[in-house]
Amino acid sequence: MDRTSFPKICDLWDLRNLLFCIVILCLFRADVGLGQNSCDLCNCTLDNLNQSHVDCSNRSLSNSMMPTVYPNVTVSLNLSNNPIGSLSECFFSKLHSLQILDISSASLLQVAGCAFDGLHKLEVLNISHNLLVISNKTVNLRIVRDLMSLKVLKMNHNVKDTKRTDISYPDEALGQVKSLQTLFLDGLVNSTFGPGFRNLVNLNTVIFSGEKKVGYCGIEAISSEMFKNVPYLKSLIIRECRVEHIEEQAFSPLSQLHLLDLSGNKKLGIDGAALGFQGLKNTSIRVLKLNNIYPDFSIGVRIKRKYVEMLRNLSITEMEFSGNKIEIVDGESFDDMPVNLTKLNISMNRFLMGDYLLHASSLKSLTTCDASYQFFSPVNTANFKKRDISSLQDTTKLTMLKWTNLTIQIPENLKAANFSHSKLAFPVLSFRIGKNSLEYLDASYSILYNWTGPVVGFDSLTYLDLSNNHCSELSFQFFDYLPRLVTLLVSNNLLGIAISRDVDGRIFQNLNTLQYLDLSNNRIISLNENIFRGLVSIQILNISHNLLDTFLVNIGHMKNLRVLDLSQNMLQVVRYPVRIALENIASVTTEKVYVNISYNQLRCMCSTSYFMAWIRDTKTNVVGMTSCILTNGTKAAFNYRNDIIRYINYMDKECMSKLGLILGTTISISLAIVIVIVGIVYRYRWKLRYLYYMTMNRTKGYQPIGNFDTDNDFVYDAFVSFADEDREFVRDFMLKKLEHERGMRLCVSFRDFVPGREIASNIIEAIHNSRKTVMVLTESFLLSKWCVYEFQMAYQESIHSGRDAFIVILYEDIPTERIYRVMDMRVVFQSNSYIEYPHVSRLDGNEQALDMFWDRCTQAIKESGYCNK
Ligand SMILES: *[C@@H]1O[C@H](CO)[C@@H](O)[C@H](O)[C@H]1NC(C)=O
Ligand SMILES: *[C@@H]1O[C@H](CO)[C@@H](O)[C@H](O)[C@H]1NC(C)=O
Ligand SMILES: *[C@@H]1O[C@H](CO)[C@@H](O)[C@H](O)[C@H]1NC(C)=O
Ligand SMILES: *[C@@H]1O[C@H](CO)[C@@H](O)[C@H](O)[C@H]1NC(C)=O
Ligand SMILES: *[C@@H]1O[C@H](CO)[C@@H](O)[C@H](O)[C@H]1NC(C)=O
Ligand SMILES: *[C@@H]1O[C@H](CO)[C@@H](O)[C@H](O)[C@H]1NC(C)=O
Ligand SMILES: *[C@@H]1O[C@H](CO)[C@@H](O)[C@H](O)[C@H]1NC(C)=O
Ligand SMILES: *[C@@H]1O[C@H](CO)[C@@H](O)[C@H](O)[C@H]1NC(C)=O
Ligand SMILES: *[C@@H]1O[C@H](CO)[C@@H](O)[C@H](O)[C@H]1NC(C)=O
Ligand SMILES: *[C@@H]1O[C@H](CO)[C@@H](O)[C@H](O)[C@H]1NC(C)=O
Ligand SMILES: *[C@@H]1O[C@H](CO)[C@@H](O)[C@H](O)[C@H]1NC(C)=O
Repeated sequence: MDRTSFPKICDLWDLRNLLFCIVILCLFRADVGLGQNSCDLCNCTLDNLNQSHVDCSNRSLSNSMMPTVYPNVTVSLNLSNNPIGSLSECFFSKLHSLQILDISSASLLQVAGCAFDGLHKLEVLNISHNLLVISNKTVNLRIVRDLMSLKVLKMNHNVKDTKRTDISYPDEALGQVKSLQTLFLDGLVNSTFGPGFRNLVNLNTVIFSGEKKVGYCGIEAISSEMFKNVPYLKSLIIRECRVEHIEEQAFSPLSQLHLLDLSGNKKLGIDGAALGFQGLKNTSIRVLKLNNIYPDFSIGVRIKRKYVEMLRNLSITEMEFSGNKIEIVDGESFDDMPVNLTKLNISMNRFLMGDYLLHASSLKSLTTCDASYQFFSPVNTANFKKRDISSLQDTTKLTMLKWTNLTIQIPENLKAANFSHSKLAFPVLSFRIGKNSLEYLDASYSILYNWTGPVVGFDSLTYLDLSNNHCSELSFQFFDYLPRLVTLLVSNNLLGIAISRDVDGRIFQNLNTLQYLDLSNNRIISLNENIFRGLVSIQILNISHNLLDTFLVNIGHMKNLRVLDLSQNMLQVVRYPVRIALENIASVTTEKVYVNISYNQLRCMCSTSYFMAWIRDTKTNVVGMTSCILTNGTKAAFNYRNDIIRYINYMDKECMSKLGLILGTTISISLAIVIVIVGIVYRYRWKLRYLYYMTMNRTKGYQPIGNFDTDNDFVYDAFVSFADEDREFVRDFMLKKLEHERGMRLCVSFRDFVPGREIASNIIEAIHNSRKTVMVLTESFLLSKWCVYEFQMAYQESIHSGRDAFIVILYEDIPTERIYRVMDMRVVFQSNSYIEYPHVSRLDGNEQALDMFWDRCTQAIKESGYCNK
């Protein structure tokens, strides 16, 4: 109730009434007067013209809770989905700017006469999905009084009982709404548009729909009277209205009719619809929709020529015959199709293969054909009435399946064809397409399992979808004759083996214009390096959902590559050549280059550190580095790119320190080995030298290897080792005493060494060729390098040959510690007897003692060198 109406009630100068009035007023103000502000209750939004849109939908608003205060310029108000019940007051009278009012689904039972008062600017009124009885009585002149701008009126889904005969379309009232253009109505049985509609010169669209949740419709028969009063209709939609019968001239008053949709009238059939075709002759019909006009489980339909003939002279450009169980079309029917037909939808039928399809080429104007979802039900002659079977056999000789050098004619202006979801189930062998301009062909989901080809003649084709065909057979030449192809979708097949056989890149070699290739879900295990060599224009390459564990394919020539999808494979890394190629591609474009590597088995390890560094530093946009497997086998997940970068940096350090560790360890191990070797060499330096010279001498053949079985094999009895300082003693005494007087053969360096030969070599040979080595041990001996050398060599000889080869003459008194300081000397000195030289001074010139000394010497030299002491 409007507050301004209070003075009217309270204009009695009666005190009692005044009192009553005040009480009422107070109550009222407390209740409503404070203003149920729409913007408190609802969602108010301002558009950029400062106009308010108030959305009160679905807020459980009842009649008494209706908002009364609205923003000044409210242009739309949505009250749908509220249990309002009735519009018993003049709620909207102040909304002078309102253009759209939605009171659908508001359980409206009745609408007061003043309900829409003041809505002078209202253009769209939606009172659908209520419980209103739409009739002369309820929709009356009072109600529509102010709706002089109304263009769209939705009254559908109100009259549930469409069979009521006491109601009709409210022509008297609606006839006053001259601006009305579009009307949504529930279809009443056998009803006609009354004379009031004649005024509606703008009414161009009437929509009846019995579709669930849209409206109620039970028009059983369309009489020739029905549309007499609405001659301005351009679009007439009578969907799911249980129409069974159309009178021949029913549509003839509709001279401006452009679109007629009779879909979903399942009892109509082509026979029923054809009756109405007569009346279409006078119209300017362009679009005819006859989808689903057969019962759900009806038998197969044959389109007879006589029906098609009725359409021949119509100006139809677009036709829909979807979902009609059509199995066959009389061969010549195609010749009688409307000449200007450009769009044809015959999806969801059951077309059989047959010669009649070859006539399809006579649809000269056809540009778009949707023949998807064929053969939904198995082909079964039981689907036919008996009399149709013979004609069926006449017309379908099934020669389509004989592929020998077949040339298939298709409508020459056909640009787009969709055969998807059809159980075609035949191998695509070699055939030729006649003159055509086909650009778009969708043959996905059609069980085309064998692509042997080649298919010649698709010279204009830019889009080819062969995905989901269970195809495992792909010949190298199948794609050879598609010179304009831009998009090729072959996902969800089984091409993996066929493709991996293609070592030289034959399959795709001629697809030079291809920009988008989808190879996903093909069980590809491996790809040869040159497989994509022909794809010079490629922009999007999708190889996801396969089984690749390596991707080592040349992509360097793909200068326009923008998306490389490698997701859902089993890759561990992106390999170096591919990384390089991607960087090169990314560096010559300003556009983004995306590489998707999500859902692989990427590794984050030190061994893959280059790959990880690439992910961090690359110029491309790597997508989907969401997880990777760590060295210890656990999987790390990343939510943000920053996480990845942080992890990679961390790994870098980790790996560097590991590298350091490895390097350090290696170095120290080698060092240790070197030290050990050096130590060993040092420790065995004498032995090594000895062996070396022995070997040298042997190989040089200076001396045949002595056979030490007998002592006689020695060249000398003794080799005398002495320091230079003691040379006189040796020359003047030792030689005289041992050689001249006692007949020993001695070897002394100054006399017996072979001149010109290495000293070391001479020494070895001397030791080797002498039964004993006599050392004249003096301080000088211990200091002399060569003497120590001679000692060591002799020592080695004694070890090597097992001889006891030493005779030590202690020529001077030397502290034993000094002696022991020479390596191995202790052993020798302790285990060998030594002979002390009796110095004359000490012996008081006792010549006898000297002789005894030399005798002992001689004896020691003569003793067998082999130890068996
Ligand atoms: C209000 O409406 C606007 C636009 O329709 C919408 O974006 C917003 O979420 C709504 N707010 C509420 C609280 O419903
Ligand atoms: C909308 O209102 C604001 C302030 O109320 C004003 O600044 C703006 O110019 C208005 N915009 C239009 C399109 O009227
Ligand atoms: C009103 O709101 C409902 C949702 O409750 C929505 O479906 C409907 O389209 C809205 N009406 C208008 C005219 O925006
Ligand atoms: C209305 O709101 C309820 C809960 O607030 C919600 O469950 C329902 O889907 C809404 N309905 C529509 C049509 O928006
Ligand atoms: C609405 O209009 C009234 C009168 O024209 C004015 O007093 C009021 O301030 C306006 N309200 C808004 C929110 O603009
Ligand atoms: C509705 O009113 C019109 C015009 O007054 C009249 O011709 C028609 O018969 C009425 N319909 C019904 C069902 O009363
Ligand atoms: C509707 O018209 C058809 C054909 O004219 C007729 O058979 C049928 O009985 C009528 N239905 C009603 C409810 O009048
Ligand atoms: C077909 O289209 C042409 C050119 O638009 C037109 O002249 C001709 O009348 C049309 N034919 C029919 C039957 O509408
Ligand atoms: C197919 O046709 C071509 C030319 O149209 C012809 O050269 C070839 O022999 C034919 N092949 C067969 C098997 O008929
Ligand atoms: C595909 O067709 C060719 C040619 O008829 C045939 O040789 C091949 O065996 C077929 N492959 C499969 C898998 O049916
Ligand atoms: C594996 O290593 C990561 C980090 O290097 C660590 O967070 C994780 O706990 C480790 N998992 C196991 C099972 O050791």
